[in-house]
Amino acid sequence: MSIEVKNLIKNFGDKRVIDNVSFKVENGETLAIVGFSGSGKSTILKLICGLLTPDSGEIITSKGDIAMVFQYSALFDSLNVADNIAFALHERKDLRNKYSEKQIANIVAEKLELVGLKGIENKFPSELSGGMQKRVSFARAIVTEPNSILYDEPTAGLDPISSTLIEDYIVRLKDETNAASVVVTHQMSTIKRTANRVIMLYDGKVVYEGTPQEMLEQTNDYTKQFVTASLDGPMHMISEN
Ligand SMILES: Nc1ncnc2c1ncn2[C@@H]1O[C@H](COP(=O)(O)OP(=O)(O)O)[C@@H](O)[C@H]1O
Ligand SMILES: [Mg+2]
Repeated sequence: MSIEVKNLIKNFGDKRVIDNVSFKVENGETLAIVGFSGSGKSTILKLICGLLTPDSGEIITSKGDIAMVFQYSALFDSLNVADNIAFALHERKDLRNKYSEKQIANIVAEKLELVGLKGIENKFPSELSGGMQKRVSFARAIVTEPNSILYDEPTAGLDPISSTLIEDYIVRLKDETNAASVVVTHQMSTIKRTANRVIMLYDGKVVYEGTPQEMLEQTNDYTKQFVTASLDGPMHMISEN
C-alpha cells in the first residue's frame, strides 16, 4: 500500500470542500482524479503531500518522499535547468550534505535523460517550450526518489502531441520508480493513457470509482455527463464564491 486516504474531510471556513473521501493507490498503480473545476481535486493533492492539514480523516503513505508536480510547471526562472532539478538536493536539510556536486551533476543528467531531455542542463526555463518545462518539472519531482508522485493537471494547456508525450512520461516514470501515482486531470486522453483506475469528484464527494474503460461506458449519470461534456446531468458548475 502506498497511499491510503480514509474518510477525509476538509473545510475552508464554513464551506466543506472535501466531504468524506476515501481511496487507495498501490505501488506501481496510477489513479486519475477527475471532476469539474472547484470539485476539490487540487485540495486532495495538497492534503496528501502535507501542504494542507485535514479537519478529520486519515492519510497513510508508505515511507519515503512524496513528489508533487504543480499545475503550472513552477520552475524558478532565474535558475538554469540543472539548478532547478537539483533544488531539493541543495536546499533540503536532510539532503544538503548527502551528495557531492559531481554526484548531483550525475543525478541531474540521469533524471533529464529519463524525461527525454539529455544535455539541456544550462538552458533557462524561458528558453524551453511548455511541454519541455513540464518535463523538467517531472525531473525535479523525481530527484528525491519518491514513493508517490502527484500530478496536478499535467497536460493542461498543452497541444495534443505534447500531451501524448507527457502522458507517456507519466507511465514511464511509474514504471521506472514503481511509485504510486495520482493524476488530476480533465483530459480523456490522459485518463485513458495513464490511469489504472479513476475516481470522479463532485462537490467534494466521490461520485464514481472504476476503470477508465468502465467510465467510457457511461454507466452512471455522472460518468455520462463527464464523458459527453454535457451541460445536462446531475453536476452543475459550482461558482467560485
Ligand atoms: N486556500 C483556500 N481557501 C479557501 N477556499 C479554497 C482554498 N483552496 C481551494 N478553495 C476552494 O475549494 C474548492 C475546491 O478547490 P480546488 O481543490 O482547487 O478545486 P479543483 O482543483 O477541483 O478545481 C473551490 O471552491 C475553491 O474555491
Ligand atoms: Mg485544481
